[in-house]
Amino acid sequence: MQPLRHSYTNRTLGDGATVVKCYQGPGALIRLQNEHAVLSALQGQVPVPPVLGYEDGCLTMGFLSGIHGQELLESGHGAGVLRACGTMLRLIHQLDAREITAALPARARGGQVLVHGDYGPQNVLLDAATLQITGILDWEWAHSGDPVEDLAWCEWIIRMHHPGQVRLLSAFFDAYGGPTPPWPDRQAFMLDRCRSLRDLCRQQEPAGPGGAQWAHRLAVTRAWQE
Ligand SMILES: Nc1ncnc2c1ncn2[C@@H]1O[C@H](COP(=O)(O)OP(=O)(O)O)[C@@H](O)[C@H]1O
Ligand SMILES: [Mg+2]
Repeated sequence: MQPLRHSYTNRTLGDGATVVKCYQGPGALIRLQNEHAVLSALQGQVPVPPVLGYEDGCLTMGFLSGIHGQELLESGHGAGVLRACGTMLRLIHQLDAREITAALPARARGGQVLVHGDYGPQNVLLDAATLQITGILDWEWAHSGDPVEDLAWCEWIIRMHHPGQVRLLSAFFDAYGGPTPPWPDRQAFMLDRCRSLRDLCRQQEPAGPGGAQWAHRLAVTRAWQE
């Protein structure tokens, strides 16, 4: 098994047939259980990897074909990738959140829609010819919540990591089909998320670089205008 590219939080290995994702950091077991439960409930509803089992802090899934969204975004397909992300997010938010999150702890239930929790081109695979999404990955933060969470986070990923593509975000919001939450609500969610990721990093490694990196991202996000 080889380490897979674009694994940013955990240790994810693959061999072209199966993928083994081993969760790292605080709450690793909870995130494993969360991803296992949500992936199991999503089978057949949207394109997600088949779940093959879990043990010793690692989840085993089937390998999905497709090109990583970030690679397509960086090779000139930004509008198509963002359009596909918007269309798919609408479908995710139309699923029965109550049914899919039924096995999650009470704090992860009770919202309006199924929130992916780390949505964006960094966690989708696409068919390079059609730009259709072939896989939505990385459901460890999924819960039932507010649509603004996924809309604002996908926007944050583009603004922070792909600043040259910010003008293409309209393709994402248009394909989602509205309503687009107002900028103050989107920015407030982005700031909350940066704060909680900063705190998580500080908890994991009090003097480590992660806390400082998220503190910096928080300050950058606070300075953004619509
Ligand atoms: N089932 C899968 N099929 C193909 N590639 C996968 C699969 N699961 C993960 N990957 C690859 O591994 C990367 C990391 O997996 P992900 O679940 O996003 O972990 P992390 O939490 O570390 O970001 C993905 O971005 C993708 O490139
Ligand atoms: Mg990921």
